Amino acid sequence: MTLSNEPLTLLEARHLTRIFGGGENEVRAVDDVSFAIHPGEIVAIVGESGSGKSTLARLLLRLLEPTSGQILFRGEDITALHGPRHLKTYWREVQGIFQDPFASFNQFYSVGRVLKKTLDLSDEKLSRAEQQQRLELALRNVGLDPTDVLKKGSHQLSGGQLQRVMIARALLVDPEIVIADESTSMLDASLRVTILNVLSELRARLQMTILFVTHDIGQAYYLSDRVFVMYHGQIVEQGPVEEVLHDPQHAYTRRLMADVPRLGGWGAKVAAD
Ligand SMILES: Nc1ncnc2c1ncn2[C@@H]1O[C@H](COP(=O)(O)OP(=O)(O)OP(=O)(O)O)[C@@H](O)[C@H]1O
Ligand SMILES: [Mg+2]
Repeated sequence: MTLSNEPLTLLEARHLTRIFGGGENEVRAVDDVSFAIHPGEIVAIVGESGSGKSTLARLLLRLLEPTSGQILFRGEDITALHGPRHLKTYWREVQGIFQDPFASFNQFYSVGRVLKKTLDLSDEKLSRAEQQQRLELALRNVGLDPTDVLKKGSHQLSGGQLQRVMIARALLVDPEIVIADESTSMLDASLRVTILNVLSELRARLQMTILFVTHDIGQAYYLSDRVFVMYHGQIVEQGPVEEVLHDPQHAYTRRLMADVPRLGGWGAKVAAD
């Protein structure tokens, strides 16, 4: 039971910091970052190359150790958890989708085998038939025909199909939140919109929470409810996407937007509302 009207916090960062190197070579890739993400929202992290977006995503996925600061999941500090045995539950709830689907897909495996391996993460005892049903449902959820793709390897799929498979894989274990790091940047423009629509639909249908990392402010505008603007490892501006992008307060945000002359091209969101 909640005692206040505050929305529940799903994922929270408190003074999260990651420093690489030392001395003259020190890079504060993520520098004292704090925020809270609530269930069901889509939050975009935008920023230029090197601003620390992927480092932040990897910290949140617990694939990289923070130098200092905390990560809380549903109010529980998970920063103290180390190693696969202790992080297993967290990794089921917080799934990542990465930029290059070809790199994250074992090329010697079929789609079916890759998905089954992920399903093994789940503690549920499923019969073979139930497993098969689960795989087929996950693929249909991202608009793929299971009979067409299950037996195929990555080299037999298009980039867009493969990225959908990666989304299906992330959804298979029924996560609370998906962290997608530049997961559309390898795709051409029309496929990019298709994948954004897949994510947006999943949110609507499954009440999925999504943290969406992109250097493309137009994509952030199209997909997200809130936006965090990263600059030199810090969140320099955050707020509802319409507010931040229509009335940016920080000079850096304005500069980012100036680099995107086609922001008007993403106006479909406004037209659809
Ligand atoms: N493993 C590492 N060792 C040393 N420095 C690193 C490491 N990973 C990232 N960095 C540095 O941290 C900073 C942030 O990098 P990061 O990859 O998080 O940026 P990004 O915003 O994701 O950039 P891009 O848009 O190019 O993906 C950069 O200066 C980068 O060189
Ligand atoms: Mg990156």
